Amino acid sequence: MRDIRRFKIASFIIVTIWLTAITISMLFNISNITKKQNKLVLEHAKNAFEKDLMFRRWVASHGGVYVFPTQRTPPNPYLSHLPDRDLTTTDGRKLTLMNPAYTLRELMENFSGMYGEKGHITSLNLLNPKNKADEWETKVLKNFDKKRYTEFHEIYNYKGKEHLRYMKALKTKESCLKCHANQGYKVGDVRGGVSITIPMKEYLKDGFSEKKFIITVHLAILLLSIILAFIIYQKLLKSLQKDIAQTREIQRKEKILNQQARMASLGEMLANIAHQWRQPLSIISTSASGLKLSDEIGTLNKETLYSSVDGILSSTNYLSQTIDDFSNFIKDNKERVEFSLQENIECSLKILQGNIKAHNINIILKLEKDLMLKSFPNELTQVFINIINNSKDAFNENDIEERYIFISTKRKDKRIIIKIKDNANGIPKDTITKVFEPYFSTKHSSQGTGLGLYMSHKIITQSMGGTIQAKNVSFIYKETQYKGAKFIINLPVLK
Ligand code: HEC
Ligand SMILES: Nc1ncnc2c1ncn2[C@@H]1O[C@H](COP(=O)(O)OP(=O)(O)OP(=O)(O)O)[C@@H](O)[C@H]1O
Ligand SMILES: [Mg+2]
Repeated sequence: MRDIRRFKIASFIIVTIWLTAITISMLFNISNITKKQNKLVLEHAKNAFEKDLMFRRWVASHGGVYVFPTQRTPPNPYLSHLPDRDLTTTDGRKLTLMNPAYTLRELMENFSGMYGEKGHITSLNLLNPKNKADEWETKVLKNFDKKRYTEFHEIYNYKGKEHLRYMKALKTKESCLKCHANQGYKVGDVRGGVSITIPMKEYLKDGFSEKKFIITVHLAILLLSIILAFIIYQKLLKSLQKDIAQTREIQRKEKILNQQARMASLGEMLANIAHQWRQPLSIISTSASGLKLSDEIGTLNKETLYSSVDGILSSTNYLSQTIDDFSNFIKDNKERVEFSLQENIECSLKILQGNIKAHNINIILKLEKDLMLKSFPNELTQVFINIINNSKDAFNENDIEERYIFISTKRKDKRIIIKIKDNANGIPKDTITKVFEPYFSTKHSSQGTGLGLYMSHKIITQSMGGTIQAKNVSFIYKETQYKGAKFIINLPVLK
């Protein structure tokens, strides 16, 4: 459940990042187009201004040009102070002088450029009221006067449509003074300015188709990635769900396995208790019936009474002792504790004592002293019980007469090595690789579930961080050759 939630959150984050990236890319591209477009219009406006300026300069450099006056271009009243404003040609036709601003205005009023750009020459101190500045131009001209800037542009809603408006100051030059000196200008003063107004429509049209392209591409990527992400998401989710179901199934099986193993070892323990109790119980009953008999035949004296009661007492003591041992072992200890390996082995043998005696098994110990472990003592005891019980079964199955189990412990560097071997002829070659598998047993189902060594392996490797292996060995003991199984357990030492 938690895995699925984590997966969903991760997917959500990835998709969000992806969507954000696409959106940012789209906005970035669109704003780039807008920027490019604005730069282009501005460039255009500057060119137009430059062209007008050139033209004006050309006219100014000639001190104005003469044209045939028409109705639209009558002689300029503002030049009436010039004696040579009007001329007559040799064939009697009239000519009139046109000043730069006049020519430019004429030009600008009649011919606008390819993109509909318009220029306007204007000033705050007008000679000709026709040249009056509009609201925007007035604002810019005022700023020219305040020396805030000499050039200004803005995207401006002009007559209900988006326009770029550009304006640059016109400085008074020597050549201007001929006609403008009487207004009090000196060389270098801002005489006025020329504004260029370009409708954005054409540019917007171009930009719009570019933006449309960018948006289409991004939407396509978006759609594609959403579809792809959805498919991948579904697939991953399904496989994750399958995985989780599988691990759950494994956990369920493991739980059953553990329960079965526990039941099996409880059964074995019961058998052990039965063996261990047989002797003290028979002592108690013979002592009791002996007492009764001697009382009936009148030979009961203090001495026999005391010795019988002592026997009964020590036997009940022994019984309660064994109960303590078993219940200690049965206790579920989930915490690692420090314990002595020797004591642990001795305790395991005590629990098995009944079986060992009943089946005539000789235990030969070679234990190194002071080997300490920090682990789960009861689980280790369970391993010893499993291994020794297997040897017992093998002795019986193979009708072995002299029965030996050798247990040795020693320390090697940072490891503790425990070896347990018997002389019960060993494990058949074709089964030795399978003994640690769950449910592998060569015994009748009433005798073995095949879980003993599986559990032992699990305890050693998973709980205690060690290793366990099974081998067949042949060896000589007391001048006799024997064959048997050998289990080698390797555990990390506690420093
Ligand atoms: C031949 C005379 C003459 C010369 C040279 C001349 N101007 Fe003018 N200028 C005029 C007249 C006349 C007007 C106003 C009438 C019109 O608009 O036709 C005018 C108008 C202007 C205007 C428009 C504002 C207004 O007052 O109506 C500006 C700006 C201007 N001139 C700047 C200049 C500059 C800068 C120079 C020098 C590069 C220059 N002029 C040279 C005669 C001249
Ligand atoms: N000391 C041994 N000598 C010979 N064969 C052995 C010895 N120990 C284990 N085996 C073989 O390994 C098999 C698996 O042992 P394991 O303890 O896992 O299961 P089991 O004894 O058959 O059943 P369970 O222990 O669950 O009652 C045994 O059936 C037996 O064939
Ligand atoms: Mg077993």
